[in-house]
Amino acid sequence: MAHRIGLIGGDGIGPEVVEEAMKVVRATGIEVQETNYELGAAHYLKTGEVLSQEVLKDLSSQDAILLGAVGPAIGSNEVPPGLLERGLLLKLRFELDLYINLRPFSSLPDVDIAVVRENTEGPYVGEGGVLRKGTPYEIATQGSVNTRFGVERCIRFAFELANKRDKKHLTLVHKTNVLSFSGDLWQRTFNEVKDEFPNVSTGYQHVDAACIYLVEQPQNYDVIVTDNLFGDILTDLAGALTGGIGLAASANLNPTGSGPSLFEPVHGAAHDIVGTGAANPLAAIISAEMMLEFLKEDFAAERVKKAVKEVISSGFVGLSTSEIGDAVAERV
Ligand code: IPM
Ligand code: MN
Repeated sequence: MAHRIGLIGGDGIGPEVVEEAMKVVRATGIEVQETNYELGAAHYLKTGEVLSQEVLKDLSSQDAILLGAVGPAIGSNEVPPGLLERGLLLKLRFELDLYINLRPFSSLPDVDIAVVRENTEGPYVGEGGVLRKGTPYEIATQGSVNTRFGVERCIRFAFELANKRDKKHLTLVHKTNVLSFSGDLWQRTFNEVKDEFPNVSTGYQHVDAACIYLVEQPQNYDVIVTDNLFGDILTDLAGALTGGIGLAASANLNPTGSGPSLFEPVHGAAHDIVGTGAANPLAAIISAEMMLEFLKEDFAAERVKKAVKEVISSGFVGLSTSEIGDAVAERV
């Protein structure tokens, strides 16, 4: 049966990179049924709508979603800041219960890191509020929600992943020395789940120290598991370290399979290079490769992975967006 794939090209270079990623997916020969969804800043400005219940319901019935990028041009102030983040990206993560954000970093020799970022809790739930706004007595609070259920399912996913990999090493990253309540919950849960995985070796690092070690000794890591906000920051650092934003891919996963998972390059809409052919589609292509893996199209995924590796090592600098897509598709 054809895989039903929902495509959210979005804004800026989003549609361009999604097109190249789908070119590669089609080249694998697997059967797909594509549906395009108009969402993002341009759609909001046209319709006043960020994500309707109806579109959300339709998206929920897909097997997978591939998203390019959403966001207005820098400097444009027509879209209120945070509106698309909370109303679209985070809404999809929460509503589809995409509780894992998996981000691989493997473009340097000897470096192969998978960051498992918790994706539905922490400070991202938006707990808190503001009092006496704009006065000298203003109070703002921003809570971080950590549930045993949410932390445990994330940590268990990370152990299962580490257990399948060659190095079988899992590092917990947190800030237990200061965030003593949530840190304690993470550490205790980690220690308990660890007993189920005797073949996985483990370590712990405070997030500030992890930033140093990640830069100095990236080859020492295998799988990292961490909370939503630390994961957000750490994966930008890891991305910059291992080839830049043009290669950083991500998978927002609901591993239970009860609904679609969402795959997206980490980069933004880059309005300044739209239509110039300067956008690097590899991050979107690698995200699509993760999508194929998740759809259990292992053979197709393996071919895309190999093709991407070849294109990266043969050098793609100077190639346009569609030439890079062609180069990968030809090798698939
Ligand atoms: C990311 C992004 C998002 C996040 C923003 C756009 C809400 O930075 O996917 O890493 O903070 O998770
Ligand atoms: Mn981020």
